[in-house]
Amino acid sequence: MTWGIRFSLGTLAVVGGTLLTIAMINGFEHPPVQTAQGGYRGTGMDENYNPRTLAALHAASKLPGVLPQLPATGPAASAVYKNVHVLGGLSVGQFTRLMASITTWVAPKQGCAYCHNTKNMADDGLYTKIVARRMLQMVQHINGDWKQHVATTGVTCYTCHRGQPVPSQIWFNEPGPEHAHGMAEAFFGKNQAAGSVNDSSLPYDPFTPYLEHSTNIRVQSTTALPAGNPQNIKDTEATYGLMMHLSRALGVNCTFCHSSRDFSDWSQSTPQRVTAWYGIRMVRDLNNDYLNKLHDVFPANRLGPLGDAPKINCATCHQGVYKPLFGASQLAGFPELQGPVPPAAAAQ
Ligand code: HEC
Ligand code: HEC
Ligand code: HEC
Ligand code: HEC
Repeated sequence: MTWGIRFSLGTLAVVGGTLLTIAMINGFEHPPVQTAQGGYRGTGMDENYNPRTLAALHAASKLPGVLPQLPATGPAASAVYKNVHVLGGLSVGQFTRLMASITTWVAPKQGCAYCHNTKNMADDGLYTKIVARRMLQMVQHINGDWKQHVATTGVTCYTCHRGQPVPSQIWFNEPGPEHAHGMAEAFFGKNQAAGSVNDSSLPYDPFTPYLEHSTNIRVQSTTALPAGNPQNIKDTEATYGLMMHLSRALGVNCTFCHSSRDFSDWSQSTPQRVTAWYGIRMVRDLNNDYLNKLHDVFPANRLGPLGDAPKINCATCHQGVYKPLFGASQLAGFPELQGPVPPAAAAQ
């Protein structure tokens, strides 16, 4: 080997080593790191939080101001307005306060005209108004019927929308990358680093089977040398893809819910895993009974590449936090969003 080649190889090694060190420093969390213990000592069920990312998440979780509540006096909305189907039992004052609030939560820049033909507020011509009416019912249903998941913290339009008409975290059925037909087709949806599964090469669509359809999320055998477990490696990988989503949507590790010595065993899991179990059922319910049923209402530019309606996953509400908005709630100030509004007794 000539001196020249040896010199260049040496330089290459030094440069390569330096680049690797820089990559490693950037890739790992640097101290300080906060930890929170979620399980028994010695089980490794700890969450590591980086105070810098936490500060950014807190800043992104600021709630907008709330208008003061108004009394249920005066004429009912159903007696004054022409086309109210969900909120008719409110007083006109309460109704108007809610209209102003949903404008702040969903369309603060666009204003009333995002949902209304302002020449005739009763007109249902804009699709956004039809969607919003169904969204009002959806929020009442979440808060009234899914307390096993949302407790009394509940949700408002702001939990998902955060001041924009289309929530930042939505998903569609995924056609996958373009590929040749025949043998080359059989890649089972994986080996294509996808954002939905935290840039891993797990199957890229963990949502359609588990958060739209009700595919079983059980892969581990309960006995040694199992005979009756029909789940295969493909099912296991898809399950892990979903679990990557759960972790990332909540900004937590697997051990927030599981003890890694037995992922399946509920008695070794945290109470949060039970909440998550209800969450999976709630998301399926919302996608099928609300979002998919609005399919024909959405214009073509709001539909996915396969023509399906936009859908919800864990990130739509959680947005990287173990409880949406760090558990802050404005629901107490909006009894009309805690369940269906009873019709006005009689026009006063
Ligand atoms: C995000 C969509 C949305 C925005 C923004 C919005 N509204 Fe509405 N509005 C609705 C829906 C949905 C209804 C029907 C409610 C029902 O069926 O009970 C409605 C009904 C009304 C009605 C009753 C009309 C009638 O005669 O039937 C009035 C008045 C009204 N809104 C006023 C306003 C005002 C004022 C603003 C702006 C401050 C506003 N709305 C912003 C969705 C919206
Ligand atoms: C659980 C999450 C969630 C909550 C809570 C929620 N929404 Fe939505 N909303 C969605 C999703 C998902 C879409 C579909 C996004 C799209 O339109 O492309 C949507 C769409 C909409 C749209 C249509 C926007 C557009 O430009 O296409 C309106 C209007 C709307 N929501 C109003 C509301 C109102 C009003 C509330 C509260 C009563 C509310 N939403 C609560 C998830 C939510
Ligand atoms: C927010 C809570 C939560 C987090 C975080 C979470 N899981 Fe899960 N996991 C669940 C729930 C709930 C189920 C059961 C789902 C069901 O039955 O519908 C489950 C099921 C599983 C199963 C199937 C167990 C069986 O019975 O076959 C495996 C394996 C698993 N999780 C692994 C993981 C891994 C690996 C991670 C981290 C990448 C993770 N989980 C993160 C809640 C969680
Ligand atoms: C409609 C909004 C919404 C969606 C969608 C949603 N969550 Fe939640 N989740 C909440 C709210 C609100 C809370 C807080 C409840 C409380 O205060 O106890 C919560 C709490 C939780 C908790 C308990 C956290 C703790 O520290 O006690 C877990 C775990 C959780 N969610 C997991 C999930 C998973 C997994 C999914 C997706 C399958 C999901 N959530 C989807 C609204 C949502």
